[in-house]
Amino acid sequence: MKNFYITTAIDYANGAPHLGHAYEKVLTDVIARYRRLKGESVRFQTGLDEHGQKVEQGAEAEGIEPQVRCDRISEDFKGLCARLKITHDNFVRTTDESHKKVVCEILQKLFDNGDIYKGEYKGYYSQRQEQFLTLRDQEEGEWPALYGEVIEITEPAYFFKLKQHQDWLIQHLNDNDDFIFPKFRKNQVTEFLKEPLNDLCISRPLERLKWGIPLPFDEGFVTYVWFDALLNYISGAAYGTDEFEKNWPADYHVIGKDILVPPHSVYWPIMLKAAGFELPKTLLVHGWWLQSGEKMSKSSGKAVNPLDLIDQYGVDAFRYYVIREMKIGHDSNFSTEIFETRYKSDLGNDLGNLVSRAVNMTARYGAGIVPAETISGDPEKEVKETWENTIAELGELMDKFQYHIAL
Ligand code: MSP
Repeated sequence: MKNFYITTAIDYANGAPHLGHAYEKVLTDVIARYRRLKGESVRFQTGLDEHGQKVEQGAEAEGIEPQVRCDRISEDFKGLCARLKITHDNFVRTTDESHKKVVCEILQKLFDNGDIYKGEYKGYYSQRQEQFLTLRDQEEGEWPALYGEVIEITEPAYFFKLKQHQDWLIQHLNDNDDFIFPKFRKNQVTEFLKEPLNDLCISRPLERLKWGIPLPFDEGFVTYVWFDALLNYISGAAYGTDEFEKNWPADYHVIGKDILVPPHSVYWPIMLKAAGFELPKTLLVHGWWLQSGEKMSKSSGKAVNPLDLIDQYGVDAFRYYVIREMKIGHDSNFSTEIFETRYKSDLGNDLGNLVSRAVNMTARYGAGIVPAETISGDPEKEVKETWENTIAELGELMDKFQYHIAL
């Protein structure tokens, strides 16, 4: 039987986990647990994205080896999963030998097939985002602050061919209505695909970056971190063993809206097609947790530490809050006041009173024993029907990811 295969994005190993990371894991966990409850066999994967310039620079600033820093940070993220009661089956680290082997194998295959070629990269580069930019990324003639310092560079580089797949990708999006959820998130992709695609530079020269997977066909370069990271979904699905067929294709990649275009909706489908894999069924795209209207992130300096909230309110209250408060696909403002209100009113008053009444009435009218299904007559039928209808409605809401209503 095919596993229901669901993944989170893999977080950058360049700081402490924050509320945004925790939310994505809880959301994915809710789906995984629900599927298991329905009797499906589930494979749930999360992990850590450990290569790239920011990780290298972070280690340098601490005066330690990148691997040492990654080992420590991976313990923080694994610890977060444990505190959040995440039921993942696999935690991929992109420094795992098994992952690196798969990346090299696929790079080599694409190179041998002529999908990767050597050329020269001329253009703009954002150090902060580790991203090549074009003038299209400017806003009113300026580089948005998000990119930090943008420099002009010319250097030899390896490119992965994207252009030739553009029409196919547009067609795939048109033919597969479920490829992106919620549907309104598709517009951003279609807009992006209106312009001709440029081939993707997938190498970084060793002089500029050491902390990456060396290209198997040219040791003078390491692999662009996104090309490496996306392949975690394949390497972590037991690629190279018989198990792989049970897992792939993924049913859901759960990701934030910032990494939909272009990595997950353009690079990833094309990488898979070129390498001969089926495409994932759905990209489930959530919004951002904001604070004072801004995306919560490590660099905003305002990130909420989920562990503090769990210490104070308990893990169930935390999980309830993030799932109840955020409508999937939309942004949500975090505030301690809203957390407190939900905690007191939804959980304390509503749920607390319900449980207390049910327990009291069972004690008063049923001698503290929940009656078995033997009472005959209409009241039982009514209760049964209400129960069945409620479960059916709940199931429908759960299937449509309407958790904020289901709860
Ligand atoms: N390493 C890449 C993902 C590679 S996946 C092959 C990355 N890492 S990240 O640490 O920046 O983000 C990891 C996930 O957390 C992403 O899906 C991102 O959208 C999500 N979040 C990070 N900050 C967030 C909020 N403030 N709110 C909700 N989720 C956001 O991108």
